[in-house]
Amino acid sequence: MEVSEKEEISVEDEAVDKNIFKNCSKIAFYRRQKQQLSKKSTYQALLDSVTTGKDSTRFQIINQATKVPLLAEVFGIEGNIFRLKINEETPLKPRYEVPDVITSKPSTVRLISCSGDTGNLILADEKGDLKCHITANPFKVDLVSKEEVVMSINSLGQLYFEHLQIPLEQRATREKENASIDASQKNQEDLGLWEEKFGKFVDVKLNGPASVGLDFSLHGFEHLYGIPQHAESHQLKNTGGEDAYRLYNLDVYGYEIHNKMGIYGSVPYLLAHKLGRTLGIFWLNSSETLVEINTEPAVKMGPVDAKQKSKSRTDVHWMSESGIIDVFLLTGPTPFDVFKQYSSLTGTQAMPPLFSLGYHQCRWNYEDEQDVKAVDAGFDKHDIPYDVMWLDIEHTEGKRYFTWDKKRFPNPKRMQELLRNKKRKLVVISDPHIKIDPDYSVYAMAKEQGYFVRNHEGGDFEGICWPGLSSYLDFTNPKVREWYSGLFAFSVYQGSTDILYIWNDMNEPSVFRGPEQTMHKNAIHHGNWEHRELHNIYGFYQQKATAEGLTQRSRGKERPFVLTRSFFAGSQKYGAVWTGDNRAKWSYLKISIPMLLTLSVTGISFCGADVGGFVGDPEAELLVRWYQAGAYQPFFRCHSTINSKRREPWLFGKEHTQLIREAIRERYTLLPYWYCLFYCAHVTAEPIMRPLWVEFPDELETFGVEDEYMLGSALLVHPVTEPKATVVDVFLPGSNEVWYDSKTFASWEGACTVKIPVALDTIPVFQRGGSIVPIKTTIGKSTGWMTDSPYGLRVALSTKGSAVGELYLDDGHSFQYLQKQQFLHRKFCFCSGVLSNSCADERGHYTSKCVVEQIFVLGLKKQPSSVTTPSSDGKDQPVAFTYCAGTFTLSLENLSLNIGTDWEVHVK
Ligand code: NOJ
Repeated sequence: MEVSEKEEISVEDEAVDKNIFKNCSKIAFYRRQKQQLSKKSTYQALLDSVTTGKDSTRFQIINQATKVPLLAEVFGIEGNIFRLKINEETPLKPRYEVPDVITSKPSTVRLISCSGDTGNLILADEKGDLKCHITANPFKVDLVSKEEVVMSINSLGQLYFEHLQIPLEQRATREKENASIDASQKNQEDLGLWEEKFGKFVDVKLNGPASVGLDFSLHGFEHLYGIPQHAESHQLKNTGGEDAYRLYNLDVYGYEIHNKMGIYGSVPYLLAHKLGRTLGIFWLNSSETLVEINTEPAVKMGPVDAKQKSKSRTDVHWMSESGIIDVFLLTGPTPFDVFKQYSSLTGTQAMPPLFSLGYHQCRWNYEDEQDVKAVDAGFDKHDIPYDVMWLDIEHTEGKRYFTWDKKRFPNPKRMQELLRNKKRKLVVISDPHIKIDPDYSVYAMAKEQGYFVRNHEGGDFEGICWPGLSSYLDFTNPKVREWYSGLFAFSVYQGSTDILYIWNDMNEPSVFRGPEQTMHKNAIHHGNWEHRELHNIYGFYQQKATAEGLTQRSRGKERPFVLTRSFFAGSQKYGAVWTGDNRAKWSYLKISIPMLLTLSVTGISFCGADVGGFVGDPEAELLVRWYQAGAYQPFFRCHSTINSKRREPWLFGKEHTQLIREAIRERYTLLPYWYCLFYCAHVTAEPIMRPLWVEFPDELETFGVEDEYMLGSALLVHPVTEPKATVVDVFLPGSNEVWYDSKTFASWEGACTVKIPVALDTIPVFQRGGSIVPIKTTIGKSTGWMTDSPYGLRVALSTKGSAVGELYLDDGHSFQYLQKQQFLHRKFCFCSGVLSNSCADERGHYTSKCVVEQIFVLGLKKQPSSVTTPSSDGKDQPVAFTYCAGTFTLSLENLSLNIGTDWEVHVK
């Protein structure tokens, strides 16, 4: 390992030249697959080899040129999912199969074989609604739903499987000679079979070429989403030559926008949507992966008759550097069915502690305890609520995680007591690299136990990161995870208390001056697996171990909060994700919306972007607009880099302070709604931030919208992302919908674009008719101060004059909601002039002193003659009300209706 030439590590080490990252042409397995596929070699399924086991149906596939047999396995999985696995039948050694992502062994359903034909095999689920038609030669699979072919696999013949081979030098002489005929030295280098060069780096491949690939044709689909993380549009774009979406977790400081290069995390899962059907393809592979997308729009063949149109189609081509083909086909048919299907495999969003839905204040770095104290006091002084103070790497003793810089933070417990008294929390950073220092106990313990990733020569892998020369914990090893989790115990982590939570950063992993700023692919992990096999899942494991550590330190009582930069499919189970090192520019504010929508539809609901932009200094207007957007995004944190100017909310003049205060207060006003959305995400896998197409799947006009989105099913948010905006065009979907401006209560019918005038204090948010949104009417210094504060209900009537909504409530921090059913789940309904509060889940029991003190009914067409609540003695109690004929709004104030009991309000 090259040792650091300079001792000091600074932000410049992360902010490297963009040329250190590869494009597709620099990726050998991409070049190999492209070259080979142009030659047209086909695979044939040997259907006379079919065997049917308890869980799956198996058969051989043979490449007609190489004759190497592959084994295909088709599984039917409960909930309308198919799984197709393809591996070598007898590999030289086992190939990597991604562990720990699929939450439990999927319950399989029996597939019935319904064809005796030799050239064909039809496998159907018991209901017979879904069928897999397997064609033998050339090998192809059609997924058929109710006689409609919705997806074809390998119809373009892009199945590609490099079988493991004995290294050239170990082969017998004759074989070697043969091999050298078709693999001249030059060719070898180009194809990067056993060795791949990139800049000064040489990747020596112990197992030689091992890549896999397969194509999927989606019939009638033109709209695809998913495969985060890219700083790209929500709707996936066609990838021309050498422009595939890359899934390779990388630390890209100030990443470029509209670029398909891989950044911090990867979820190899995409969704396709068309009128009447949504599908998902989950490609379970954690090695470097490329995805090509090619949409062929419908072509009119003859006169305007729709039947004469050729169907549109989108082809998706997945290619991975190694591992096996293991793909789950989620057949929908609705978007919410697909979310459920995906969550049945990878889990749902963890239920977060309530505080983490508040506002977070971060900076690299808050200098010392005094600084923390002053910033904390600043929030109170300026009457701005906030929940969490964050400390970046400088809080440690020389970037040794789990320690404190004694000069800056001499008494971390005292500092935490200060925050605790304000009902606030602290988050500190803990990265995966561990400074090589025998006197640092974490290092010494890990070294002794052999807990670091190894280099290919067998020593500990060493790379440079913030502390200088470091080794990297091997989180893929369950023992290492268990040990690491133990480091969060209060008795071990000196200076930590139960209000301290964790931020995992640099876990792609980031290795300064390493190939593409990351770990060498031939580093060795637990079980002797090469890093290349599992690169994309490294960060997932760190967050898993951290979340488990935080849970264990409370003996399983308290919910953890862990933010991670790197992630994989299933990371939602362990906490929140943010979009890394964005820039203080309008374009980055704008791209945050599609980036978060993409994370949201791939299961990661708890996501956010650094408010203000991490790199650079936002002008006041941009900062205000960013706060306004961030207040309506799931994870809401302001953060900035070490050499940026201070940007606490009160540093931009009175007027801007007021605007930021307002935005943050709106966040806290909506807390009950946010919490309920997280509960629904946790229980039923419904994304929190939803692209319009998810809520309006039958409306073509919504499929490409990404400058606005739904929060749950009730609120439409259109953040202002342009400087000096005076008006925004807001698309209000749904021909039978009515929408209400959340501030003015002005209303519009749906299916139109309206021009909304905006001043700097306008956040365009609209409530959908038919919804009831619970709010808090009094804001506290933090979520902790709001436990007992009263509720309000915003009842927005539909065109039919009705509305529904819900509220979820528990203690906000423990697992009692799960272990002891200590929760309240209430249902609100407005129908025929009666607003009712009733129980939505009889299992739950939790008492709350809180009352509903304010109810607004929007869209009530005529002034009521009376408003009453029935009382226990059978008499109706009159309720004072006001009615605004201009906005058709009924207001009830000073009420005292308990949130957790059944009641009715009658409007006549
Ligand atoms: C990179 C992270 O993306 C950033 O948020 C953090 O401030 C720095 N590392 C320093 O820890």
